[in-house]
Amino acid sequence: MTLEWRERWADWRNRKLQDPKFQYWASRFPLTRARSRREAREIFDLVAGFIYSQTLLALVRSQVLQTLRAGPSPQSELQSLLGMGADAANTLLRAGATLDLLAHRPPDRWALGAKGAALLGNPGVLAMIEHHAVLYQDLADPLALLRGTRGDTQLAHYWPYATHQTPGQSPLEGVASYTELMAVSQGLVAAEILDAYDFGGHRCVLDVGGGDGSFLRSVQARHASLALQLFDLPAVIDVASERLQDTGIALCRGDFTCDELPTGADLITLVRILHDHDDERALQLLRAIRRVVPENGTLLIAEPLAETPGAERMGHPYFGFYLFAMGSGRPRTIKEIGELLEKTGFSQPRKYPTHIPLQTSVVAARPVR
Ligand SMILES: C[S@@+](CC[C@H](N)C(=O)[O-])C[C@H]1O[C@@H](n2cnc3c(N)ncnc32)[C@H](O)[C@@H]1O
Repeated sequence: MTLEWRERWADWRNRKLQDPKFQYWASRFPLTRARSRREAREIFDLVAGFIYSQTLLALVRSQVLQTLRAGPSPQSELQSLLGMGADAANTLLRAGATLDLLAHRPPDRWALGAKGAALLGNPGVLAMIEHHAVLYQDLADPLALLRGTRGDTQLAHYWPYATHQTPGQSPLEGVASYTELMAVSQGLVAAEILDAYDFGGHRCVLDVGGGDGSFLRSVQARHASLALQLFDLPAVIDVASERLQDTGIALCRGDFTCDELPTGADLITLVRILHDHDDERALQLLRAIRRVVPENGTLLIAEPLAETPGAERMGHPYFGFYLFAMGSGRPRTIKEIGELLEKTGFSQPRKYPTHIPLQTSVVAARPVR
């Protein structure tokens, strides 16, 4: 079908779907009723999604989910953990069971549901659930956030480098919480990157914005002979230096908006970095990398890309709002990354498939003359 016909068809369909009489008919007609039912459920999830997230937050923050790791618990124990009456506890526990976070074991015990169990295997996701309480406040009035009438956001305070003119001067207390959050959520991302791209063909890796060095530790665990360099803001490197003693990882303090990056690496990695920055700062960073990457070197960018098949919701909806609230950056498509790379003297990005693109995509580029 041509684009014009696709659009005409979509317009006709939309007119139909807006019509209550068509909805009534479609929900009863044998060939369309299954689809109607499914779409009604999906639309309800859009309408009520915030309640699901808050149910999850309550179960994580109260430690109910974590307590059930050891096995089923009687309701009375969970109720005292929750510090609430029977009706309130029932409201939460039943909601959790409906969402497959918990499972009721009649008459009065509760266990993990499949989704609750899977979440417990991801400490990074648990940390993000707690962290989302900050974003939730910023999103309470989404139009005020987008119109900029809301004033300072909580996320802009949480990530001071995003809006500061001189990120290098961030004090320790400004970086400690985000460095911890990144460290705890790094494991799955690192595994995806190391599975997707073979680091074995390189000599030395420079991880720019590498936080406390968690990613480089994972690299080291798989490729012990690689030389490793970590570059981040001075306050972050102070945190890292305590954790990386005796690892042989070279620590480089600096601010890529005004300091030169270290030389010597033939693989430079940007893990969850580029999307944090508006185009101007992203270009500044890529130019800084271009100045130090050797002609036969590689730049590896790992972050969730917008419009990635199967992971679309991580792009424009999730990171779109997250980064808007943070005050800088945006999720980019591979084409948009390609445009930045072209402007800074790199080849077009080559994509390396990852097992769960929701975690991260991986693209590599080489310097061109
Ligand atoms: C979103 S975190 C990602 C950390 C790590 N790469 C990871 O994936 O866990 C962004 C990192 O970039 C660092 N960063 C931000 N602006 C920077 C700058 N101007 N110079 C050096 N590092 C910077 C931050 O301190 C932080 O550690």
